[in-house]
Amino acid sequence: MTIRETLGVDDIELSNLDFWLKPWSVREEAFAMLRAQRPIAFFAEPEIEVETIIPIPPGPGYYAITRYADVVEISRHPDLYCSGQSGTTILDMPPELLEFFGSMINMDDPRHARMRRIVSAAFNPRMVRAVQDNIGRVADEIIASVRDKGECDFVTEVAARLPLKIICDMMGVPERDYDTVFSRSNIILSFGDTEYVPEGEDPVLAFMNAGADLAELIRGLAADRIEHPRDDLTSALANANVDGESLTDTELASFFILLVVAGNETTRNAISHALWAFTEHPDQRAVWAADFDTVAPTAVEEIVRWASPVIFMRRTVTAPTTLSGHAFATGDKVILFYNSANRDEDVFEDPQRFDVLRHPNPHVGFGAPGPHFCLGAHLARTEITVMFRELFRHLPDIRATAEPDRLRSNFINGIKHLPCAY
Ligand code: HEM
Repeated sequence: MTIRETLGVDDIELSNLDFWLKPWSVREEAFAMLRAQRPIAFFAEPEIEVETIIPIPPGPGYYAITRYADVVEISRHPDLYCSGQSGTTILDMPPELLEFFGSMINMDDPRHARMRRIVSAAFNPRMVRAVQDNIGRVADEIIASVRDKGECDFVTEVAARLPLKIICDMMGVPERDYDTVFSRSNIILSFGDTEYVPEGEDPVLAFMNAGADLAELIRGLAADRIEHPRDDLTSALANANVDGESLTDTELASFFILLVVAGNETTRNAISHALWAFTEHPDQRAVWAADFDTVAPTAVEEIVRWASPVIFMRRTVTAPTTLSGHAFATGDKVILFYNSANRDEDVFEDPQRFDVLRHPNPHVGFGAPGPHFCLGAHLARTEITVMFRELFRHLPDIRATAEPDRLRSNFINGIKHLPCAY
């Protein structure tokens, strides 16, 4: 029996975290129902289940934007739908947290444009080329470290290790601090999952402590790079660039937190979802493996569409406006559900089919076109491509051996563990 036969659109509870642990097929049906029957749907805000050090008052509720065209339209108009008012999460971020978490993702122009200019200059072609050479070497090392075992946890031993090492190398973080970066970024995105913040502990406090640890790490590094600049991103960001611009201490810390969280958790989930997809759709693996370089560009886009590792971003309405016949008031929160836009039948032919040759594939997995489009999209695409090139080469029969152990989150479509064999 499908959800459509048992439930109606009124029974869909996006604000209940348990909804997000239902089988993916149930989620898909719920979003298909929303797109068809209530594409701009109002929901009460999720309840905070535990006591927290900084009280987060219940907000006014939000509109779930589930159709592709509406997600794109909102992203294109940052003047009407902003990112800088209480953040891009569903719950309003208290000002104490906003300054520290989110960095440019939670800013509007002119602050956003200034930040983006400084960090884009640091992501210069020489830096990106050096990283690309490194990705193949790191992927090989990761695979070599598990090869003889015949089986492993694909997420923690393979998928998570590549983006972590690449970002740490880019920033110049020494190897002894990798575990700190990994565990703290897990905590920051774990809201509600007891594997990372044990039951009974204050998730906001854990979140703040994790941020403070990362900030301390990067401050130490920046102080060193001001004295002894090297060829890394921390040196480029802490020292003034050609236009005389650099980041302040706090800006650097919050950008580092954004980078490790945005760069690690997303890419690792894309890679983990891909292994699961190739296990369930061996024909698609065969298509890619048969002509790797030709298929890689479309395969990578399909992996990001399929996985939609970031489920949503929020915008806040800045002035009364109308979208697809719905009148919004100033202050309304709109949640752009990328997972739903990426399955919109009006845009994608047979959207529930995993098709590594899909073309065109204008997915919004990296965000829709607009000022906040993912800064790391190119890097993420390269990491996914290189990882599968090396996996197909060295462990050609690798496959998942059990269902994914999923993160309890409405924000990150996360896989925490995925046993695999080869
Ligand atoms: C498959 C992997 C990835 C996915 C699915 C993803 C997804 C996204 C999405 C949806 C946004 C849009 C935010 C918005 O519109 O409000 C975004 C922004 C961003 N991403 Fe990614 N991302 C990925 C990888 C990366 C990597 C590897 C990095 C860095 C090394 C990165 C850094 C950023 C940054 C800094 C922003 C903020 C840009 C801004 O506000 O101007 N991302 N990402």
